[in-house]
Formats: sequence, structure tokens, C-alpha cells
Amino acid sequence: MPESPPRRRWTAADIPDQSGRTVLITGASSGLGLHMTGELARRGARVVMAVRDVAKGERARAALPAADRIEVRHLDLVDLDSVRDFAARIVADGGGHVLVNNAGIGNLPRRLSPQGHERQFATNHLGHFALTGLLLDALTGPDPRVVTVTSGLYPLGTIPFDDLTGERRFSPGRAYINTKLANVLFGLELDRRLRAAGSPVRSLLAHPGMARTAFIDQGPPALVGLARSVARVIGRPVADGAVPILYAATAPDAPTGAVIGTGPTLRKVAPTVEAVRRPGTDAGLATRLWQVSEELTGVTPLLPVRPSR
Ligand SMILES: NC(=O)c1ccc[n+]([C@@H]2O[C@H](COP(=O)([O-])OP(=O)(O)OC[C@H]3O[C@@H](n4cnc5c(N)ncnc54)[C@H](OP(=O)(O)O)[C@@H]3O)[C@@H](O)[C@H]2O)c1
Repeated sequence: MPESPPRRRWTAADIPDQSGRTVLITGASSGLGLHMTGELARRGARVVMAVRDVAKGERARAALPAADRIEVRHLDLVDLDSVRDFAARIVADGGGHVLVNNAGIGNLPRRLSPQGHERQFATNHLGHFALTGLLLDALTGPDPRVVTVTSGLYPLGTIPFDDLTGERRFSPGRAYINTKLANVLFGLELDRRLRAAGSPVRSLLAHPGMARTAFIDQGPPALVGLARSVARVIGRPVADGAVPILYAATAPDAPTGAVIGTGPTLRKVAPTVEAVRRPGTDAGLATRLWQVSEELTGVTPLLPVRPSR
């Protein structure tokens, strides 16, 4: 898809009325997810904060406007059993309209998930793959969407199919970037499959540029020091970093199958449809990742999705 800046600058003030919509946001206890929770609830949405630490989530919720429209639920994406429990409860409670796959960890030493997957790949990609697959049929309403949060660094990634657990070679930073490529491959493959099935669900990717969140404080001290220095120069306030994701989640003209970025200038964020960069464009790679993800999670996303109601 070619680059196309919006006709005018879109801000959080442009979020359409969200009354009657339920938005599920992973990793909503801090940073971008928490900010988006507040903005969407303020515009009338019921928001489910899907968090790994419920006490932290409740403290964060209490400080938000329209807290009565916000619910905190436990979801630990690194653990596929927790993903299944969370999804089953959401389905039992009637589903939702928008799923924002936002949670992420990065730059952390190698460790395995309860199911034996490398934890950054498990949290950022496999957990969201399984969650989306389990919830797809429960995303309803006039304009259902899945928005997956990636990073502008994704073109630097690869998918090491021969060493997904990082047993033979592992770099914390590279492993993170690889998961952000996986997010792009997944979001675009999901869009292709949804379109082929005639589904009303849109699948979009969005990234915040560099936003000053707790994210940059993860990892070894040398990397944190570097990230903080870079963030001082090119980092954005959380509110600005959230704008492309909010646009992808709510703007009527946000196109499905697109990567939404922050726009051409550092100073002003303008949600922009970015040209997808290689290897994000590689449909063969995306198909292979999808198959491997089905095998590793045991989740086969439910397609086709019934027409919206
Ligand atoms: N900040 C940036 O410059 C930047 C740039 C590019 C992309 N991103 C992406 O933006 C997204 C949000 O990050 P952020 O910047 O807002 O950082 P953040 O403040 O650290 O937020 C990440 C959230 O993910 C949650 N999380 C981590 N592991 C989880 C798990 N196993 N289950 C459920 N939730 C989990 C964290 O929970 P806790 O609160 O319990 O820690 C936290 O709330 C990430 O996907 C990140 O890759 C950020």
C-alpha cells in the first residue's frame, strides 16, 4: 500500500463516539495501553484492560477518567493457558468489537515460557496469535477490528525458524525486533485471510515511533542507558505515540491491511499509512509463520468469520 498522509492531522480529539463498543486492550496497565484505555473510555467505550498484574491494573484504572466503564481482567500472554482462560471468559461474556494487541516486552535475557517458547516471541507474537484466533469469531458489531502494535524497526527483523527458542544464538534486542516483524507478518496475513473469507473484521498494524514509556527501561543497563539517551532526542510523549494506534482502532477511514505510523516529522504526529517494507511484504514468510504459530499454540483461528450483527 503506498504512503498516504491523512488529509489533515488526526488527533485523539477526533476519536468518534465509542458508545456501545467494547475494546479489549492487552498490556493496558502502563504506557500506551493505559493511555489508550483512558482516551477510549472518555469517548464512551467500555474497555477491558487485559493485564498480567491485576492489582497494578486496578490502581491504574482507578486514576483514569470514566473508570466505571473500565474493567480489569487477568491475561498473561506468555502463558497459553492464561490466554485460553481469558478468551473463554470474554467469549462467554459476549465478546467485543475491537481487539488491540498492544502488550510487549523487549530486550530481555533468554527465558522460556511455561510451554517452552522463548518469552519475547511467546508474549509479543504467539500469545497475541492465539488470543486473536480464539476471539476472532467473538468480534462483532458494525466495524470489528484487530489492531496489532508493531515497531518501526520491524524491517530489521528475521524469523529464525530453525532456532525459535534462541537455544543456539540469542540476542535480546534482535529477538525483540524479530517479534515485531512477526507482528507485521501476522497482521497482514490475517487481513489476507479475512478478506478471502469475506469477513467484516479489519486487521491493521500500528506503531508509535519512539514513545517515552517504561518499555525503554527494560533490558541490560547499557541498553537502557542508550535507549534513554535516544528517547531524550527522538522520544515522544505517550499521548503522541498512542495516536496512530487509536487511529487504527477507531478512524472510519483507517484502511484494513495497512501499517499506520506516526508521519513524516518528529515534532507532530500525523497517523500515516506507511508503505510496508520487506520482509513484511513476504506473503510466503507470513504463511509459514502462521502455520508454525498454529502448531506451537494449538490454536487454529476461526475463519470465515460470520457477518457482523
Ligand atoms: N515505547 C516505544 O517507544 C515503542 C516503540 C515501538 C513499539 N512499541 C510497542 O508498544 C507496545 C506497548 O509498549 P509501551 O511502550 O506502552 O511499554 P510498556 O509501558 O512497558 O507497556 C507494555 C505493557 O505490556 C504488558 N505486558 C508485558 N508482558 C505481558 C504479559 N506476559 N501479559 C500481559 N501483558 C504483558 C506490561 O505489563 P506490566 O504493566 O505488568 O509490565 C505493560 O503494561 C509494545 O508492543 C511495544 O513493543 C513501543
